[in-house]
Amino acid sequence: MAIKRSSGNQKSASTNKKTKKTKSKSNQGKKQLEKTLKNDSSSESRLVSATSNTEETENQEAGIRPQTLTDYIGQKELKKILNIAIAAAKDRQESLDHLLLYGPPGLGKTTMSLILASEMGVNCKITAAPALERPRDITGLLIGLKPGDILFIDEIHRLNRMTEELLYPAMEDYRLDITIGKGQSAKTRSIPLPKFTLIGATTKVGSLTSPLRDRFGLIQRLRFYEIDELTTIVKRTAEIFKTTITEEGAAEIARRSRGTPRIANRLLRRVRDYAQVEKADAIDLELAAIALEVFDVDPRGLDWTDRLVLTTMIEQFQGGPVGLEAIAAATGEDSKTIEEVYEPYLLQIGYLNRTHRGRIATEAAYQHLGYQKTLF
Ligand code: ADE
Repeated sequence: MAIKRSSGNQKSASTNKKTKKTKSKSNQGKKQLEKTLKNDSSSESRLVSATSNTEETENQEAGIRPQTLTDYIGQKELKKILNIAIAAAKDRQESLDHLLLYGPPGLGKTTMSLILASEMGVNCKITAAPALERPRDITGLLIGLKPGDILFIDEIHRLNRMTEELLYPAMEDYRLDITIGKGQSAKTRSIPLPKFTLIGATTKVGSLTSPLRDRFGLIQRLRFYEIDELTTIVKRTAEIFKTTITEEGAAEIARRSRGTPRIANRLLRRVRDYAQVEKADAIDLELAAIALEVFDVDPRGLDWTDRLVLTTMIEQFQGGPVGLEAIAAATGEDSKTIEEVYEPYLLQIGYLNRTHRGRIATEAAYQHLGYQKTLF
């Protein structure tokens, strides 16, 4: 089988024409933005990465988070279930059941926990498993809780055994069992805790031990967002930023956001910078498409490395099946990074398949990258 790269590349026909027309006009802005992009890449390795860095989460996401379930866009099923749980708990004047939220990063697990706290009128303490190294880290947090409070533990699959075992009686009986002293003279003491709610968040629900998983009354998955939901999120964030955006402009950002609000809002920030440098009055389809092209986010949200993985598979391995290690060697990327960072989205959009004989680039990937499969 031979492969030919056709002249049409991955841009959609409608944006392609417009992009060419305005390219020269935007050269100055493009240079400035490429500079910004370079600076950006040191602190934030990938514009289309769904994982957050702490600074970004705290400083940027905080200001645009929805505050109520009504303001929260998408995740309809989850909202329905949580609305029932909230109403029932309030009616009984009890704390919410412990809740495990799982799903890919960037879909709003922390946001949902903060909303639940505000809907219940309680505090939410936020931490992550890697920060709970010593037993005193978790005991300190638990002792400080007030009745009904929410304790949010991110990346809960990464808890160490001692911390996890302290959580069992805390979750089940609202009791903290601590050991004082060492060896034969060690004594255990039980400290009563107020009734609280543990919200655990994880991207790897399969990595949780069953005793921990079994102690959650509710286990819920967050799903990738639809384009129309992301469009609404982008419009809402633009309003908070006091940035004018058209429906089509918001939809263009949404299409390139990998089903993830965190990416959508990050792309919106970059497009807003571009609009400002270009002195554009509003973000429309054309401007959004040009700006995201400058930032190397293609019409399906793929970046340079995503495309490198696929083109390598197509050009060097006839589209596969090819082993992960062979792809890693040919692209110069680490195999674990390919597997954990690049592959999930390519699998999700159907550009890559995993088979027992190796990875395969699909027909859709060929089409997107402008290749034609031809037979000898
Ligand atoms: N910002 C990020 N995620 C959001 C969501 N689900 N709804 C509204 N705004 C958001």
